[in-house]
Amino acid sequence: MSEQPSPAPYLTTLFSLVGRVAVVTGGSSGIGRAIAGALGRAGAAVVVVARREGELDGTVRELRGQGCRAARVSADLGSRAEVARAAEEAAAVFGEPDIVVSAAGINLRPPMDELGREVWDATMAVNLEAPFLLGQRFGPVMAERGFGRLIHIASQQAFRAFVSSGAYGVSKAGLVALARSQAEAWSGRGVTANTLVPGFVMTPLNARLSSDPERVRALAARTMTGRNGLAEDFAGAAVFLASPSAAQVTGQSLFVDGGFSAH
Ligand SMILES: NC(=O)c1ccc[n+]([C@@H]2O[C@H](COP(=O)([O-])OP(=O)(O)OC[C@H]3O[C@@H](n4cnc5c(N)ncnc54)[C@H](OP(=O)(O)O)[C@@H]3O)[C@@H](O)[C@H]2O)c1
Repeated sequence: MSEQPSPAPYLTTLFSLVGRVAVVTGGSSGIGRAIAGALGRAGAAVVVVARREGELDGTVRELRGQGCRAARVSADLGSRAEVARAAEEAAAVFGEPDIVVSAAGINLRPPMDELGREVWDATMAVNLEAPFLLGQRFGPVMAERGFGRLIHIASQQAFRAFVSSGAYGVSKAGLVALARSQAEAWSGRGVTANTLVPGFVMTPLNARLSSDPERVRALAARTMTGRNGLAEDFAGAAVFLASPSAAQVTGQSLFVDGGFSAH
């Protein structure tokens, strides 16, 4: 009997990101950090962008410890000027990105009656406007080069109300539409745009909800897999969307939620 060939060369053709450059906003924590690690381990050079320097440094150390090429840019993506600066600084490290993941996000959750302009503006700026501005900066360059991957982290709250969705749900619904618009604009020139849609994931974003075991259990019971999400659940999905294999997947929302949204 002939020996089974190693799957490694085939998997490499499908999913390797060697030679690619990735920028991951929110790459210093939770889902973004897991995605930055996955893209790095699949071969991409990765620049993580967020505000807190300590978390950024820790992430870069971890990535380099895994043999990845990694760097960081500290910026507040709630400011248009900072988004522009972050984009230039990120592109200056390893070159123009082939993959941009927008995972930076905030969820302030005031009750709708108390939702004022300040929360609205802050939410829209980080969750929706920054991904739009980064797309405007990088999308046309990717299209010119004939390859690009825009990946946005949306939320089930783009599709349903859930614990004071308020401005957050609106911003995430906007992201789903933004990915479609970007896909429409640039897919013909090799640039895909998609969203990953988490359910309830145990990260610092959800610290308050996650610390209530009753709520955590009740949320897990609403999935089909019987558990809440983990940041690591997004690794494979992100590598897939970033990879050559996903060339024909564009304008889509991929739910990574244990079936939360399917019933
Ligand atoms: N966890 C969930 O259940 C869940 C569900 C649906 C969708 N999501 C989405 O998934 C994405 C990642 O969330 P997560 O759960 O992984 O949260 P997380 O652990 O709190 O990470 C959020 C990241 O965004 C960065 N960030 C926040 N505000 C920023 C700003 N103004 N400028 C630059 N960076 C900023 C944070 O770093 P700094 O604070 O240092 O800036 C951090 O790296 C978010 O878009 C979130 O909306 C999460």
